Amino acid sequence: MGPDELKGLIRTVPDFPKSGIQFRDITTLLAHGEGLAGSIKQMAAIARSLDADAVAGIEARGFIFGTALALELELGFVPLRKAGKLPVETIGEDYALEYGTARLELDPTLVSDGEKVLLIDDLLATGGTAIAGARLLRRAGAVVEHALFVIDLPELGGARALADETLKTHSVIS
Ligand code: PRP
Ligand code: ADE
Repeated sequence: MGPDELKGLIRTVPDFPKSGIQFRDITTLLAHGEGLAGSIKQMAAIARSLDADAVAGIEARGFIFGTALALELELGFVPLRKAGKLPVETIGEDYALEYGTARLELDPTLVSDGEKVLLIDDLLATGGTAIAGARLLRRAGAVVEHALFVIDLPELGGARALADETLKTHSVIS
């Protein structure tokens, strides 16, 4: 399945979780066998040119695509978790996203110095979440040059914000 067909499997829900937000719901894509397989194949085709040693995914939706992609590439998966979930000493970053604020945490021992980590999430909106994820991985010693998403919402300026942090944006659907 190509990007245009994948786009057709995403459901738009107005005013969720707040008035004025057009929520791009990926659950309809996930529940579609060819859609799920097609999105991972498209991501893998992009990721193969990016020379990664590991994949990191952002809780929760980034775990779904990140783990599947890591399996496809035969790479390890590093979880970037929401606050308070990891049972060990963590490093954390607070951030703002399109419709709220949150905190991501990482066990820094999961990455090694100089390891090239590809950052994965389902969707790029303002970029707040991905930037927090990249900062955490870099604080742990990783080299993070690329972030890959299923969906980029360009009108929200995420790719520009990521470029300001020297992160290159890649996406299957725009
Ligand atoms: C969503 C989405 C991205 C983030 C993008 O996550 O999965 O992680 O928002 O927004 P931004 O570019 O403006 O930062 P959400 O925090 O809603 O969590 P979820 O994955 O647990 O649903
Ligand atoms: N995360 C941030 N903005 C979003 C949106 N418009 N739809 C789905 N997830 C999002």
